[in-house]
Amino acid sequence: MQPLLEVNGVVKRFGGLTALDGVSLKMLPGEIWGLIGPNGAGKSTLLNVIAGVFRPDSGSVHFKGQRISGLKPEQICRLGLARTFQICRPFPKMTALENVLVAATFGAHGDRESPMARAEAMLELVGFPVPANTLADSLTAAQLRRLDLARALASRPQLVLLDEAAAGLTPGELADLQQLILKIRNQGVTFLIVEHLMRLIMQLCDKIVVLHYGRKIAEGAPTEIQGNPAVVSAYLGE
Ligand SMILES: Nc1ncnc2c1ncn2[C@@H]1O[C@H](COP(=O)(O)OP(=O)(O)O)[C@@H](O)[C@H]1O
Ligand SMILES: [Mg+2]
Repeated sequence: MQPLLEVNGVVKRFGGLTALDGVSLKMLPGEIWGLIGPNGAGKSTLLNVIAGVFRPDSGSVHFKGQRISGLKPEQICRLGLARTFQICRPFPKMTALENVLVAATFGAHGDRESPMARAEAMLELVGFPVPANTLADSLTAAQLRRLDLARALASRPQLVLLDEAAAGLTPGELADLQQLILKIRNQGVTFLIVEHLMRLIMQLCDKIVVLHYGRKIAEGAPTEIQGNPAVVSAYLGE
């Protein structure tokens, strides 16, 4: 099977700091991958390189067999790769629905569904808990995370990158998010998830990649990662 996403030897430097130091991974369609590692390990940087925010200093990223490193974020989004943000920044003076509508209009188009119908369906899918005409700047952090997810899904992605989507959620909201990710994956969507909550990662992911100082120190099924001495010392060693 052709990998959906292939990251090959990616290096990304910020001045003298090497945030990513030769990271490679290969994801198959329909998989859920977790990306973990201590603060500053390079997780968000890797998502940003994949999404086209940063161009790698060396190495490459391929999506559906096509080289995407070097393309602009909006070009990559149109190809079917969406992401949520560690800090979400919606258009504050637009309603929740309008925010999702922008993504539904901008992303890949379905044959039958109008952008408005798509936007409404995505808010419903994520269980958006307040009226769709609520202004974005009056939403709580948890509501913003759902809005950001609805926005990402509205562009009809085949691959979704989630950056700490579970931060600040209640146990109930967390369970909802977990069910939602599984439901969407069962429709064929692939996920790469950055997350601090080990329980969520262990329960949800088929594969886990561990970054430490920009290097991949482990990759494997949750059970393989759990007892890995390098992983344990990366978390406890500092
Ligand atoms: N835009 C940037 N400019 C300079 N340094 C950055 C930038 N983004 C991230 N870094 C640095 O790169 C390293 C990795 O950061 P990041 O990818 O945000 O880590 P993580 O998401 O794993 O906590 C950190 O040392 C961070 O300070
Ligand atoms: Mg981060």
